[in-house]
Parts: sequence; C-alpha cells; structure tokens
Amino acid sequence: NLYINISEENKMKKNIKLIAATVVAMGLLASPIASAKEIVIKFSHVTTEATPKGKGAMLFKKLVDERLGGKVRVEVYPSSQLYGDKAVLKALLLNDVQLAAPSLSKFSKYTKQWALFDLPFLFKNPQALNCFTDSAKGQALLGAAERKGIKGLGYWLNGMKQISANHALINPEDAKGLKFRIMSSDVLKAQFEAVNANPQKMAFSEVYNALATGVIDGQENTWSNIRSKKFFEVQKDTTISNHGVLEYALVTNKRFWNGLPTDIRMQLDQIVKEVTAQVTQFALDAAVKDMQTVADSGKTNIHTLTDAQKEQWVSAMKPVWAQFEDQVGKDNIAAVQQCNAKN
Ligand code: SIN
Repeated sequence: NLYINISEENKMKKNIKLIAATVVAMGLLASPIASAKEIVIKFSHVTTEATPKGKGAMLFKKLVDERLGGKVRVEVYPSSQLYGDKAVLKALLLNDVQLAAPSLSKFSKYTKQWALFDLPFLFKNPQALNCFTDSAKGQALLGAAERKGIKGLGYWLNGMKQISANHALINPEDAKGLKFRIMSSDVLKAQFEAVNANPQKMAFSEVYNALATGVIDGQENTWSNIRSKKFFEVQKDTTISNHGVLEYALVTNKRFWNGLPTDIRMQLDQIVKEVTAQVTQFALDAAVKDMQTVADSGKTNIHTLTDAQKEQWVSAMKPVWAQFEDQVGKDNIAAVQQCNAKN
C-alpha cells in the first residue's frame, strides 16, 4: 500500500534527522566551544606547596574538583610562578587571576586598615589572632578592600614571626644598623626604625638571595617560611621573638565572585569555609614541626629570650602603635586586647 510506504519513509527520514541532530549535539558538548563554559579559577601565590597556604590552595582545588568538577576548574600557581604579591593584586583586579592570598601586610594600596595586623606585639598568640578574626569586628574588617574591588573571602593563618640575622639578636640594641627585609608595610618599617635598624621593602622571592649575598643582614618571618625558603641556611642566629603575626587575606575579584551563578558561588563559599578551618590546623602544625626542622638542621643558633629581654623589645617597638592607631582603629586594637585576655 502506497500510503503506508510513503508514511514509513517519512518516519524513517525523521528518525535519521533526529539521530543526526543528536550526534551533532553530542559532538558540540565535547567540543572546546562547550567546555569554554567551564569556570576557571586561577589561584596564584608565592609560597611553596608544602606551606599552610600552599596546602590550603591545593585542598581548595581538590574539593572543587570533587564537588564542582566539569563546572569549575581551579589552577594553582605556587612559588611566585605566575605573579609576585605586588603584581598579583593588579592581575586580580584585571580578572587575570581570580584568587590570591597575600599577607595582610601587602595591601596598603587598597586599605590602610589591615595594617592593624602588623602592629608589633599586638597579638599574644595564634589563638588570640583567630579569636579576633572570627569576631564581629574581625569579620567587618575583612571587607575593608571591597571599595577597591577586592573581596575578602577569609583570613588564612600562618603564624607568629621570628627574627634572624648573622649575629644573636637578644636585646633591641643588637638590631641597630642592620638591614632587615620587610614586606611592603609602613608599620613594619616603623617597627624596625624603632630599634634603629634599617628596613628594606623587598619581594618574598628575592629574600634568600639577598640574605645569601649580604644585600640584607636579617629578616623576620614565620617558621614555615623560614624553613620552606631555607632562610635558616643563610642566617647564623634566629631569635624566638613572636613579635608579630603573618596572616593572609584570601581575596578575589569582587565583580567576578558576585557574578558567579548563585548555586556555584554558595558551594565555593562553603568550600572556602572548610579550607580556611584546615589552613588553621596546617599552620598550627607547621609552627611546631618547622621550628623543629630548623633547630635540628644545626645551621642557625636558636635563641630564647628571657621575660626581661622580651620586655625590652616590647618597650622599644610598642610605641609604634601610637602612629597608626587612628588608621587601624582604636576599637579594633581594644577588640584584639580582649582576645588576648581570653587566650
Ligand atoms: C607569604 O607567606 O606569602 C610571604 C610572606 C613574605 O613576603 O614574607
């Protein structure tokens, strides 16, 4: 029957068209055009992967792979491979990278308030620091660079800073005339000037060579950075001074983050929260383990201060607070002191 034959032929043609369209659509899904829809987050930082920040970045990548694989891809660039800390913030604002975690000491162009964290002998210990960053005041402060397009997603801990040189730094007079590398912070500059030393702002990636060649005499940093960057190999003496803190702001481009699909942004916020808690643990562990590794190396003499010696450093450096208290907020200083009292 002719009618039936024609209608069957039409049906077959339709089916062939349908199959062809499906094949084309599947091809498109696998093509680069479709995968360009994947959101790429480049995370650039300056420390090695074996540090609290390095581990935090890799954990962030792992959790995003597990929970948002195919939708979001994270690329981590450690050890200043992509950008140093100065350039990374410019790159972030241009959306060339989407995540960075510089030290809070490196944001003076974007906010003056984060200088709070540099005040010498302000934080008693990492627990007091965490108490403050978790508090309402600490959380409000995290938004300090938003006006400039930099959104703070969380505080990442590194720890307490120690001071080193090629001779023992026991009293503040021992620092007199020495050139110390500092991060780009006016508070840190004032801190070293207060002990008649000569502070030099310098990128993290240049410190080892500058110490090795005598361009600078000393430096201040945490045990994890002293170990991972091998500063202890080129410094004869390291003093357990705990005179300051190294704390990071995990930051993103505000427009990028706010422009993410809501469900994805919420999942990323949750991942940030979980990773931030882990980074605290990585940092607390590193402070103990890395100090031990440095001590065991025998390459630097480690000095412990008596209470009276420590008090001399405090008396010499603490007057710096008065220069910056309006800038960082007396209320914030008071909130830290409350945390100190509890920890
Ligand atoms: C870092 O831990 O990110 C580097 C800190 C520094 O520049 O000393």
